[in-house]
Amino acid sequence: MKQQLEKIEASAKEELSSCSEIKALEALRIKYLGKKGELTAILKQMGGLTAEERPVIGQLANKVRADIEEALAEKLSSLKANQQQAKIAAESIDITLPGKHCGLGKLHPLSIVENEVKDIFMGMGFDIADGPEVDYDYYVFEALNLPPDHPARDTQDTFYISDKVLLRTQTSSVQVHVMETQKPPIRIISPGRVYRSDAVDATHSPLFHQIEGLVVDKGIKMSDLKGTLEMLMKKLYGNDCKIRLRPHHFPFTEPSCEVDVMCFNCGGKGCSMCKGEGYIELLGAGMVHPKVLEGCGIDSTVYSGFAFGLGLERIVMRRYGISDMRLLYENDLRFLNQF
Ligand code: PHE
Repeated sequence: MKQQLEKIEASAKEELSSCSEIKALEALRIKYLGKKGELTAILKQMGGLTAEERPVIGQLANKVRADIEEALAEKLSSLKANQQQAKIAAESIDITLPGKHCGLGKLHPLSIVENEVKDIFMGMGFDIADGPEVDYDYYVFEALNLPPDHPARDTQDTFYISDKVLLRTQTSSVQVHVMETQKPPIRIISPGRVYRSDAVDATHSPLFHQIEGLVVDKGIKMSDLKGTLEMLMKKLYGNDCKIRLRPHHFPFTEPSCEVDVMCFNCGGKGCSMCKGEGYIELLGAGMVHPKVLEGCGIDSTVYSGFAFGLGLERIVMRRYGISDMRLLYENDLRFLNQF
């Protein structure tokens, strides 16, 4: 029996030394030490031994078990270490490889000019106000002195979500939101998207951008409006830029005007760019109608104000000499990379 035990130990060690996989180790453990393993089979025969032989063989069997267990554990840790090494070797990266080029994005021309206009107005003490693009009819039309049957609504048709809720056609709606929550002195601009049921062509888009301006305080006059807009245009287009105010009509301003900027292509003489006019129309403006002030809870006998709404696309197109508005929405990188 002693020889059998020694033989088991020897063959277990031999098999272990040639074992190269962690999975195979478990099979060896079962083969030698498991319930149906070789060592157990020998121990089962111990009943046939004499009283003197039993402790000797018992001790030897325990030693063989301990030795095999130790050898198994050693092998397991060395296999694990090898596996780790192999993994590290396989994962090593070559830091001398050139990196992947990651193209940097840049601002869209609409954003560039919007930021510029915001900067100019912040420099004059204006705050930036935000308003909803999906709004109630009340804010877009009714509170701006455009009741349901007003003919001017025809020029600003839009997508109606319900009878009372629509995509805003003008940022003038923000005037009402602001005056409902703030009391004078008010000095804000509000840039944002507006929507109109217009077919797409070189100068029209169903989605475009406006920047609304609103000033309400004691003693605000038309000359304040003119001075503010003159300052804006000089900062945008240079100091020799001239503007002119033409009488116009908006239901929510009285008096109202349209503001043109001198054509910088011909300097006012008239050319193909300004269609012979010498001036190019840029925005609508006027003194806030007393009805609009009163509707927002502002006493029109104490306060007055001016408002204007300028089309951002127009300013961008004049600035960069872009002749087709569609270019601004097509996201063609050959176009966008020029800014
Ligand atoms: N909201 C007007 C438009 O879209 C422009 C405007 C704004 C006119 C403010 C007067 C005062 O045409």
